Amino acid sequence: MSITLLAIESSCDETAAAVCCAGQILSNIIASQEIHSRYGGVVPELASRAHIQHIVPVVDQALKTAGCELSSMNAIAFTQSPGLIGSLLVGAQFAKSLALSLNIPLIAVHHMQAHVLANLIAVAQDQQPAFPFLCLTVSGGHTQIIVCSSPTNLKVIGETMDDAAGEAFDKSAKMLGLPYPGGPLIDRYATSGNPERFKFPEPKIPGLNFSFSGLKTAILYFLQEEKEKDPEFIEKNLPDICASIQGRIISILLNKLKKAAAETGIRDVCLAGGVAANKGLRKAFQETGSNNGWRTFIPKMEYCTDNAAMIAITGYYKYLN
Ligand code: KG4
Ligand code: ZN
Repeated sequence: MSITLLAIESSCDETAAAVCCAGQILSNIIASQEIHSRYGGVVPELASRAHIQHIVPVVDQALKTAGCELSSMNAIAFTQSPGLIGSLLVGAQFAKSLALSLNIPLIAVHHMQAHVLANLIAVAQDQQPAFPFLCLTVSGGHTQIIVCSSPTNLKVIGETMDDAAGEAFDKSAKMLGLPYPGGPLIDRYATSGNPERFKFPEPKIPGLNFSFSGLKTAILYFLQEEKEKDPEFIEKNLPDICASIQGRIISILLNKLKKAAAETGIRDVCLAGGVAANKGLRKAFQETGSNNGWRTFIPKMEYCTDNAAMIAITGYYKYLN
């Protein structure tokens, strides 16, 4: 069906818009908000205000890049939840106003469903995961293992009981004195470090759930002890510390994913969310897949971190449904 829709994402600190026609992404525009790095985390009020400034030019650019007029849209999709309430409201009100004024359907999208469906973007049908597939979704606010039986039928079978994987990266980075968001920086330093150098504990959580708060505390005490012995411990050992922290986060994630695959018998396995941009995780995920006979899928980098293309593809499937 040749449906063209405009999608808007504003759940956190990225203002994004995308146009999708018949399931193909025609444009994917993102305005990031630099202002938060100075505060060591996202400041919700500043995020809302930045969304208000960015939303018109970002939507405009998405339409121009796609070569489409607003009047040719068949529907408007937007991120309804989860996210920062003020940020979500900017996108929601903007999307509602557009849909109302154009007299076309408004499609509310769940942000975590969209992260999963990013695996269906821009790949031929035979290169797509077959339903039902498993997805490890790792973002700044969520860590979930999902069984996706169809684009609109998803079930969470495991999730974090405390911090998300992205938070574990960002909070570790903060303890190391790195700016927000620290995940990509840990990734960068880890490439030249030894992941076996420092041992951090793996939590013993039953079932398919995760926990990262114990790891955070272990890192805090470890750094305090080492800095007492040598105040320059972090500066001298940064790559090895980053590689060791990253290695443990990855093993926590992939051990649960292996368990989920064994319990469900599902062999098509996807990765999604901002942390799926992590080079170490991508590599270890693919290795785990080939060792266990899975077919593995990871969205293109630009569709892992927050974006509106994933909202557009989800809106498209919801429209068809
Ligand atoms: O999905 P996302 O863009 O936003 C949320 O929905 O939360 O995920 C953001 C998270 C942040 O915690 C960020 O540090 C983490 O993804 N992240 C990474 C990398 N790139 C983004 N973590 C580790 N390595 C990366 N390369
Ligand atoms: Zn996200």
